[in-house]
Amino acid sequence: MMATALAALMSLPSIPLAPHPTPVEPLLRLGAALGPHAPRLFIKRDDLLSFGMGGNKVRKMSLVAAEALAHHADTLITCGARQSNHARVTAATGAALGLRVVLVLNGDPAARATGNLLLDRLFGAEVRYVSSRAERAPMMEEIAADLRARGRRPFVVPLGASTATGAMGFARGVAEIAAAGVKPDIIVHASSSGGTQAGLMAGCALFGVRARVLGISADDPAPLLVRVVGALLDDIAARLARLAQPSTANREIEVDDRFVGPGYGIPSQPSTDALELVARREGIVLDPVYTARPWPVSSPEFGPAISRPIGRSCSGTRAGCRECLPDARAMCGVRRARCRVPDALKGA
Ligand SMILES: Cc1ncc(COP(=O)(O)O)c(C=O)c1O
Repeated sequence: MMATALAALMSLPSIPLAPHPTPVEPLLRLGAALGPHAPRLFIKRDDLLSFGMGGNKVRKMSLVAAEALAHHADTLITCGARQSNHARVTAATGAALGLRVVLVLNGDPAARATGNLLLDRLFGAEVRYVSSRAERAPMMEEIAADLRARGRRPFVVPLGASTATGAMGFARGVAEIAAAGVKPDIIVHASSSGGTQAGLMAGCALFGVRARVLGISADDPAPLLVRVVGALLDDIAARLARLAQPSTANREIEVDDRFVGPGYGIPSQPSTDALELVARREGIVLDPVYTARPWPVSSPEFGPAISRPIGRSCSGTRAGCRECLPDARAMCGVRRARCRVPDALKGA
């Protein structure tokens, strides 16, 4: 039964946008910099998922793009912030598959395109601006309705590709952590639209990886993000429930929103320090918006609370990763919001 569930997960239609698996590497020099009490730290190098300049959204897009093709889509519509990594990967996916892409981005139109916005245009995406986050979803629906009326076949990809389908891209990625032989006790990653966390949690449950999954919020308050992740886990369970046999995991959804700092996309001093430390010690570039947020938790401030080295796994994206962090005892005082994972995905 369990094998059937895993087979179902692994046989979901997928477009091979980038080669897998990505390596799981120890962060020895970073560990040394953190002192003798630092935990054993690993990083899963999803920054090496090179497609469209890589990153966290490639695993999700592999499945979501296959879903779009199954719906005979000719246009992908998605949304995000002006420098959205997800928008960039969607734009690249459209280019690779011969689909038109419309991006609904919130913010003022840029006088000069830089960063991801420059790449969005390079990949040929059409960019529409709205002034607030709340306007993004209605604008996507409006554009989709307009395209349908003109005989086109739009496929709307919700924010961050955080649907059950997208999240299952990350669930599949957990197989790579298990196969790497690393037994993390905690997987820490940046969390925003919730799909990464839901996918990692579902993957841990289905592959029997007994790790806590801790999402460090890039923007929303923890209770809100917990609800989003919970709803996605329900959706994944509904997709796999008929097949899924409960596995070994019985986890709660854990989100820490202490590192949002001054707000979404605004670098904080701890995240800037972490970004520099990881760059100088490991030659790895984190994303200031996402993946640099969790890293301050690895700081020596938490070190003394750790009495033994613990392996943990992370995955990085050029613009962000799941990272590994100190163990539970080091996390005292962390603000968390918890809820139970759906029965279909939790341990017996
Ligand atoms: C680099 C990076 N890491 C993490 C995340 C958060 O993932 P999710 O939106 O699935 O919560 C994002 C979202 O855009 C991202 O770009």
